Amino acid sequence: MDLSDITVYINGRFCRYDEAKVGLLTHGLQYGTGCFEGIRGYWDVAESEMYLVLLREHYDRLSTSAKILTMKIPHTTDELIDITVDLVRRNNFRTDIYLRPCIFKSAEDIGVRLHNVPDTFAIIPVPFTSYLDASKGLSVCVSSWRRADDTMAPPRAKITGLYVNSALAKSEAVNNGYDEAILLSHDGHVSEGSAENLFLVRNGALYTPDPSQNVLEGCTRRAIMQIAQEQLKIQVIERSIDRGELYAAEELFFTGTAAGIAHIVSVDHRVVGDGKIGPISKQLSEIYQGVVRNKVPAYADWLTSVYSAAKKPAAV
Ligand SMILES: Cc1ncc(COP(=O)(O)O)c(C=O)c1O
Repeated sequence: MDLSDITVYINGRFCRYDEAKVGLLTHGLQYGTGCFEGIRGYWDVAESEMYLVLLREHYDRLSTSAKILTMKIPHTTDELIDITVDLVRRNNFRTDIYLRPCIFKSAEDIGVRLHNVPDTFAIIPVPFTSYLDASKGLSVCVSSWRRADDTMAPPRAKITGLYVNSALAKSEAVNNGYDEAILLSHDGHVSEGSAENLFLVRNGALYTPDPSQNVLEGCTRRAIMQIAQEQLKIQVIERSIDRGELYAAEELFFTGTAAGIAHIVSVDHRVVGDGKIGPISKQLSEIYQGVVRNKVPAYADWLTSVYSAAKKPAAV
């Protein structure tokens, strides 16, 4: 990906990607002491408009992640929304995009800690490239790696260093011929994918691990729960899920900003349902695709329009 033309936001100013330097000894790089978000923008050719999805929810979660790491984002959520709209406009993107806001410990010295270290806050926008190709359904395995526990480093915060856990599981899965991994918690209950939340369907109801199962409290997860209840009128139950229930599920799918709604066709070589996308997964996926492209008026307020919105420029 050629990043040289991209304008980023860093510590209160806009500059070219190449001008925003991070030193080799930076704490966030050496110790993983940072947190981040992943936000998507969908380009609508017919409307010549960019829709940013669940911006407020993502920035609220970033503030929570930062608080857990005793950092403070130097802007309110409203300011962040304005800055983000301004940033996307400056880049004049005319394609689907991915936004990566982050805050990290930026001292360049030796000594792991959170205290007495300055923070750097940045937002990096990039054209979106496909994350998980779920068009034929995903083949997944249960990872031999367990999901990091809240008593070690809280997974409900999107902490940079925690992604070692995800990377180990993902690469193990891919190297063994699968598309993705499902991680269990330390006590053997289902947690989530390497970068996605997990849902299963049994007897017409939708189940997903509750937030105490070391999951990231996904923005797409919450959106899907609401859509399932309001549009499909199905029951959504958050509870602990056993590994065996994965094999018994009628439908299984991941949710995530990057992954979207990605249906799973096999787990540990057990076929899910009839091996094709199930009716509930299909309907949820179609409605969600409509929502993020502003085709479902009931959820229009989940989107922030970039080009038509008569917003004032960010105050930076
Ligand atoms: C570990 C993990 N779980 C779940 C998710 C899905 O969260 P969201 O729907 O907010 O993108 C992500 C994606 O960021 C993730 O990294």
